[in-house]
Amino acid sequence: MSQLSSSALRRLSGAAGLACAGLIVLTWSGQTKVGAEEAETPGRYVGQSECAKCHEQGMAGRGKDQLPGLKESATWAKDDQHNFAYKRLDDEDPPEDKPRWASEVTSEEIFDALEGAEADMASESIRCLSCHGVVVHDFGTPKWFKKGDNRVVFANEKHQQGYEASEGVSCDGCHGPASGWLKAHEKEEWTTQQWLARGGAKDPAKASQKLYEDLGLYYSKDLVLWAEQCVRCHLRIDSGLLAAAHPDLEAFELWDQNTRVPPHWRDYSKAADKPELPAGGALHPARVWLVGQSTALQASLEEVDKRAKAEAEDYIESAVERAVAHWTVLRHGLKLVAPEAHGKLEKAMAALGEAEDMKGKGKAAAAGAAALPRSLHYALVGAKLDAAGVKKILAALEGDAEAKKKGQRARLRELSLVALKRVK
Ligand code: HEC
Ligand code: HEC
Ligand code: HEC
Ligand code: HEC
Repeated sequence: MSQLSSSALRRLSGAAGLACAGLIVLTWSGQTKVGAEEAETPGRYVGQSECAKCHEQGMAGRGKDQLPGLKESATWAKDDQHNFAYKRLDDEDPPEDKPRWASEVTSEEIFDALEGAEADMASESIRCLSCHGVVVHDFGTPKWFKKGDNRVVFANEKHQQGYEASEGVSCDGCHGPASGWLKAHEKEEWTTQQWLARGGAKDPAKASQKLYEDLGLYYSKDLVLWAEQCVRCHLRIDSGLLAAAHPDLEAFELWDQNTRVPPHWRDYSKAADKPELPAGGALHPARVWLVGQSTALQASLEEVDKRAKAEAEDYIESAVERAVAHWTVLRHGLKLVAPEAHGKLEKAMAALGEAEDMKGKGKAAAAGAAALPRSLHYALVGAKLDAAGVKKILAALEGDAEAKKKGQRARLRELSLVALKRVK
C-alpha cells in the first residue's frame, strides 16, 4: 500500500509554489447550480443511422460552401476513434490502416479482473458502456459523480428503434437525445435561434441548460459544454477500473484532442467572433486551451477528491500528479486573465501539496480545491485577452522550469505551446 508521503506530494505540487501554512478550504462566490434532479432524459436517443440520412453525403439544394458541410457522419464512420469504442469492448482488431488504435490490454482482461461486475462480458456491462457508448447528458460535475457513483450514466433504455449500442460513442451521445429536435433542426440557423431565444448571448450557461431541458439539444457550440463533454469521459476514471488494469487517462489538452479526432466541425479560428459560436476568431485556439485546462483541472481535482474519499490510496498519487500538471500550465493563463481566481487556486493547490496524506486535512484540502466554480470556465470564454497576452502566456510557459520537469506536466506543456502558437 503506498501511503502518499508528504515529500511525494510536495514534489508533485512544487508547481503550486507558495508554501502555505495550515489548511485553506476555499469559499467561492457565484457557484452555478448544477443539473436537475431526475435521471430522465428530455428525449430519446435515435442512433447514428438516422443522422447519416442527411449528414453523410450532404443534401440537395445546399450551397457548396454552406456550413455545416453535412459530411459529418462520413468523417465519424471513417476516422473518428469513437466509432471503435464499443468494438473495443469486444476486443475486435483495429482497422489495418489505424495501428494506433491497437491496445495494450484487452477488454476481456480488464473485465475479468473487475470487482463487482454486473454483467457477463464487457460489451454488456454498464461500467464499460458508460464511456464506450452513449451516455446521458449532464452539466458541470455530473450529479451521479457527486453522489459518489464514478460512472457517467449509460443511455440504456432511453433510446428508440434504430439506435444501436454497438455504434459506440455516436452522434446523439454528444449532441443530445435527438427525438425532440431531429425534425426541426434542419431549418437554417434553427439551433442557433433556439439558443439565442433562451438568452444565450447574455447567459450562455443558463440558455444551454434550458435548451437541453426543453428539447434535448446539448449545445456544444457553447465552449464550456464542449469541454465538459470531453472530460466527463476522458478524465473521470474510477479506481475500481484502474485496479482492473484499465489504463489511467492522461492529462487532457482540448486543442490537441479536438484536432486528433479528425474533426467533423469547422475551423472556428476562421469563424466570426459571435456569442453563438465557440469563441470564433483568431484567439480560438487560446480560448480552447484556457477553457480546456480549467475544465480538466476541475475534473482532475474532483477525481483526487473522489479517490481520497474512497481511500483508494494506490491511485491518489497519480490523480494528484494529473491535477498538478493541469495547474502548472493553466496558472500562467489565469494569472493574466483571472488574477483573483489564480490567487485562490494557488492557495488551494499549495494546501493540497502541504497535506501529509489523504486523510483528515488532506481530504479536506482535496475537497476544497475541487470546489472551483463552473462560472470560472465561462469567465475564461469571455475574459479580456489579445494576441499580445497570448504571447505573454507563451513566454511564461516556455521559461517555466517547473513545467519542464518530466511526466504529465512536461507533456502538457508541449501540447499547450502547440495550441498557443496557433494564435497569430
Ligand atoms: C432531414 C435531414 C437531417 C437529419 C436526419 C439530421 N440532420 Fe442535422 N442538420 C441538417 C441540416 C440541413 C443542418 C444545417 C442547418 C443549418 O443550415 O443551420 C443540420 C445541422 C446540424 C447540426 C448543427 C447545428 C448547429 O448549428 O449547431 C448538428 C449538431 C446536427 N445537425 C446534428 C444531427 C444529429 C446528431 C442527427 C441525428 C440524430 C441529425 N443532425 C440528423 C439536416 C439533418
Ligand atoms: C470513464 C470512462 C471509461 C470507462 C468507464 C471505461 N473506459 Fe475504457 N477507455 C476510456 C478512454 C477515454 C479510453 C481511450 C484512452 C486513450 O487512448 O486516450 C479507453 C480505452 C480502453 C481500452 C484500450 C486501452 C489501450 O491500451 O489503448 C480498453 C481495452 C478499454 N478501454 C476497455 C474498457 C473496459 C473493459 C471497461 C469496463 C470494465 C472500460 N474500458 C471502461 C474510457 C473509459
Ligand atoms: C465526441 C462527441 C461528438 C460526437 C460523437 C459527434 N459530435 Fe458532432 N460535434 C461535436 C462537437 C464538440 C462539435 C463542435 C461544436 C459544434 O459545432 O456544435 C460538433 C459539431 C457538429 C456539427 C456542426 C458543424 C458545424 O460546422 O457547424 C454537426 C453537423 C455535427 N457535429 C454532426 C454530428 C453527427 C452527424 C455525428 C455522428 C455521425 C456527430 N456529430 C458525432 C461533438 C461530437
Ligand atoms: C461518452 C464518452 C466520451 C466522450 C463524451 C468523448 N470521448 Fe473521446 N473517447 C472515448 C473512448 C471510450 C475512446 C476510446 C475508443 C477506443 O476504444 O478506441 C475515445 C477516444 C478518443 C480519441 C482517440 C484516442 C486518442 O487519445 O488519441 C480522441 C482524440 C478523443 N477521444 C477526443 C475526444 C474529444 C475531443 C471529445 C469531446 C469533443 C471526446 N473525445 C468526447 C470516450 C468519449
